[in-house]
Amino acid sequence: MRTKIVAGNWKMNNDKNESKALIKHLKKALKNEPLENTRVIVAPTFVNLSSSIKTAKDSKVEVVAQNMHQAKNGAYTGEISAQMLKAIGIKTVILGHSERRTYFNETDASLAEKVDAVLENNLETIFCFGELLEDRKSDTHFAVVESQLKNALFHLEADAWKSVVLAYEPVWAIGTGETASAEQAQEMHAYIRSIIEKQYNKEVADAVSILYGGSVKPANAKEIFSKPDVDGGLIGGAALNVADFTGIINAI
Ligand code: 13P
Repeated sequence: MRTKIVAGNWKMNNDKNESKALIKHLKKALKNEPLENTRVIVAPTFVNLSSSIKTAKDSKVEVVAQNMHQAKNGAYTGEISAQMLKAIGIKTVILGHSERRTYFNETDASLAEKVDAVLENNLETIFCFGELLEDRKSDTHFAVVESQLKNALFHLEADAWKSVVLAYEPVWAIGTGETASAEQAQEMHAYIRSIIEKQYNKEVADAVSILYGGSVKPANAKEIFSKPDVDGGLIGGAALNVADFTGIINAI
């Protein structure tokens, strides 16, 4: 059975105290939830990772990073390496978010290097990708998603996929209030699984968790998560509010 995941990407929100408070509330809310085969993840900003890890200790809440630089170390002012994240207890790193691609010029090529750095350090990645509105309008969304995966991930050995979680986030649905329909999400997730099977094999394709992201709310989560190839969600805005986020966790 594939692992279900609800992950909150906090983006550039929540200072140290707000991060701690949100995690404390979450811990309390999840204390008596069985959460079988389900992971609950939050991704605070870099400066709040250590304190968040401490707050989340001995709970069902995992703390992950939002990004990472691909180099081991060196003259990269303002950047953070895999080793630095590992040293504070981080095990998982989100890569390839559309905001990183759009505002910070991340490309498939640089993301392939980041993925390699994550895996070389025995970390896991939640790898984000998804088409723009114009891609969907011009009916090239499947081709765009395929090339994003091919260019950043298909050089990996089959075994490395044990450390990869995918997050399909159509850019037109991020922070817009407009979500992909459950059918659109399922259609793309099934397509993603089919191209992974073609590149690797059925075992790899069946094992990888594929999350949907883009305006997931408690009101639409259940329908989206009910689809067979949707294994959970990567949540932005609704992850900043404990009632909304736990509502989404309950939906899974
Ligand atoms: P929203 O849930 O705010 O649309 O953001 C989704 C997202 O970008 C998660 O990474």
